[in-house]
Amino acid sequence: MFDRDRFIADCRAAVASEPCHKAVREVVARAVGAPAAVLTGLGAPTRGEIQKLYQSDELTILNVIWGPYMTIFPHNHRMWAVIGIYTGREDNIFWRRIPGGDGSKVEAAGAKALSVKDAEPLGKDIIHSVTNPIPRLTGAIHVYGGDFFSTARSEWDSETLAERPYDVQMAMRLFEESNARLVRS
Ligand SMILES: [Fe+2]
Repeated sequence: MFDRDRFIADCRAAVASEPCHKAVREVVARAVGAPAAVLTGLGAPTRGEIQKLYQSDELTILNVIWGPYMTIFPHNHRMWAVIGIYTGREDNIFWRRIPGGDGSKVEAAGAKALSVKDAEPLGKDIIHSVTNPIPRLTGAIHVYGGDFFSTARSEWDSETLAERPYDVQMAMRLFEESNARLVRS
């Protein structure tokens, strides 16, 4: 079974033993390796949202529920992360800054399709955009090696790919727009 408090304690112990993503990745991989247990422990997703499970200076743990076909614009975290999928799918596009110019524009550099049971580590300089490519909710545990909510970061406009400060309200709007579509369908 998946116990939320046990999972949080295991992630905290992992970071305390090794201040990088490696030990946390093992904890996340073990959890999403039994996806049905995570669904029972966290509850089956009902709407697109970000549920904060834990937040400290060293660690943030989120339960991220992506709406059907929802896409979030390119953004960075400026801290390592681990993404573990327990229901649905996540397609990640990875971006890199284009050398020259003012260094703010990005180009696509790679992609990774994540499925149930995958636990993917992301380095601290990663820029990614995320799409839920399926017509139902996707549930993922996201663990970050720092305080996700108080660290300044960047996002890149989906159309112009111009860099700007990350706007948490805009990100939240994307979740609400996906929920409005969910209700209509
Ligand atoms: Fe992200």
